[in-house]
Amino acid sequence: MLWVYNITFLLLTLSTICHGDNPGAKLHITERGLKKGVEYLVNNMMSNNAVYELSDVTGSEDIASEDMSYEFTKIRMVQFHHGIISAQWMPETGLHVLMENGNATINCNWKLDSWLIKDSGSSVMTLMGLSISMIMGVRRIEPGVPSIYLLDCQSSVQHVDVKMLGGVSYFFESIKEPIQNVVQRSVNQQLCSSIRNQVKKWDQSFSQLNMTVSLNRFIELDLSLVGYPEISDHYANLGLKGLFYAQNKSHSETAFSPAPMTFPVKDSTMVYIGLSQSSVDSLCSAYFSAGFLTFQVSHMVGSKELTTSALAAYMPEISEHFPNPAPVKIKLSATRSPLVFLLLNNMTVQFRGFIQTNAYPPNTKSQNIFSAYIVASLQGSFSFSEAKAAQGLNLTGSFHLDRFQVEGSKPVINTAKGVAKEKGVQQLVQDVVMPVVNEELARGVFIPSGVLKNAFVSIEKGFAILAADLK
Ligand SMILES: *[C@@H]1O[C@H](CO)[C@@H](O)[C@H](O)[C@H]1NC(C)=O
Ligand SMILES: *[C@@H]1O[C@H](CO)[C@@H](O)[C@H](O)[C@H]1NC(C)=O
Ligand SMILES: *[C@@H]1O[C@H](CO)[C@@H](O)[C@H](O)[C@H]1NC(C)=O
Ligand SMILES: *[C@@H]1O[C@H](CO)[C@@H](O)[C@H](O)[C@H]1NC(C)=O
Ligand SMILES: *[C@@H]1O[C@H](CO)[C@@H](O)[C@H](O)[C@H]1NC(C)=O
Repeated sequence: MLWVYNITFLLLTLSTICHGDNPGAKLHITERGLKKGVEYLVNNMMSNNAVYELSDVTGSEDIASEDMSYEFTKIRMVQFHHGIISAQWMPETGLHVLMENGNATINCNWKLDSWLIKDSGSSVMTLMGLSISMIMGVRRIEPGVPSIYLLDCQSSVQHVDVKMLGGVSYFFESIKEPIQNVVQRSVNQQLCSSIRNQVKKWDQSFSQLNMTVSLNRFIELDLSLVGYPEISDHYANLGLKGLFYAQNKSHSETAFSPAPMTFPVKDSTMVYIGLSQSSVDSLCSAYFSAGFLTFQVSHMVGSKELTTSALAAYMPEISEHFPNPAPVKIKLSATRSPLVFLLLNNMTVQFRGFIQTNAYPPNTKSQNIFSAYIVASLQGSFSFSEAKAAQGLNLTGSFHLDRFQVEGSKPVINTAKGVAKEKGVQQLVQDVVMPVVNEELARGVFIPSGVLKNAFVSIEKGFAILAADLK
């Protein structure tokens, strides 16, 4: 029997190691998020002023002791107010949406034919107390896009008011009620089929969604759905690929195997977006591949020009080589993609790079003061605010230097002048380079997302969470 345990152990171990199919990002939508999302969908995709065509209604009815045949054609719902919307998740299925106490206006042409009258004209009908209850399934279809479908639909109209225009209108008061009943019945039947068409249209537009979004000219983010949506009573989790990549680097070159993310149970905001450490790493890698991780420093904080005399605080011998202050430029560039480590309330970045410092004395060519390979450990913190100019979020952050080392077993600081020592370089990076990097980060990175507000970042073990409300 021992082999059974061994195999089980092996499989369990493998399943924790080989998690290539885990989502890199996860979207957690709470009940409040669902309600807001449904309102958004209904308000934006089911415009109050859109015209919905319903099919013709024909038949005959015993009206005022007359057998009267009727025909309502060109029925168009010209106005639709959905009333009060409520929505709930349905475990393992999708969602239940209820619209109550809505109203609608319908225009149509009518024709009545009986022994007593033969007449035609147009009419305006007002539907009141409109209620629609629908259950929609949510699933994932290839290539990783969401799909919705109508599982059940019930509708009811409490009251219909018909105004006949044209024709011999004095006659209508006596036949108004039976006509209203006919309209009420048939509208009721038709509402759900019109909704079925609407849901098909929504699904169609979902299926055409491009799940790859551009962050900027160089970096793209793959957000295709990974795995089936996980739906419980109070929330839905959608697994997303969450892979960032540089446009000029092929997709498949990036090794990507996120660890599973388990969200802490919190329901105070509408949506939670989890970003795994792998996903954050892919973002760093994309920035690195796109050539963004190079920083040029030519001024101190407060825009004072960086000169050899300012450097004297870090490497005193420099004054001997440059008796007259000369402008200095420090260039720091990553030599490989930075590695990010996420722990509870703790984000550490390991940065490997090359630092090069040159002086630019007037009337001579530039001189290298020192160059060195460095390894630095940085502690980062980030926060979101509403962007000022455009619709979106403003991501600002700061780093502070935790550990710093000139790389190699014996520190090699390539300098002809012999002025730079590891301690001095570290202090220089700490006092001059970091503030410039932080100045850049404090200016903020604009994230175009018109739908999120009250965004808040927190760091958990292995992933970061963005909590936000929908506008
Ligand atoms: C229809 O509903 C809208 C929004 O609730 C309301 O403003 C409007 O007065 C209603 N129309 C009728 C005829 O009841
Ligand atoms: C999706 O959008 C991305 C980024 O804008 C673009 O590079 C890609 O070609 C698009 N894919 C399709 C199938 O349109
Ligand atoms: C991608 O483009 C950036 C910026 O143009 C460049 O610095 C980088 O070397 C390019 N990377 C590759 C792999 O071509
Ligand atoms: C964060 O984690 C790193 C690496 O484990 C550790 O060195 C550092 O002290 C931690 N920082 C804080 C503020 O907890
Ligand atoms: C982002 O926030 C910073 C700091 O408050 C501010 O200086 C910057 O202008 C903001 N950027 C945008 C796009 O709102």
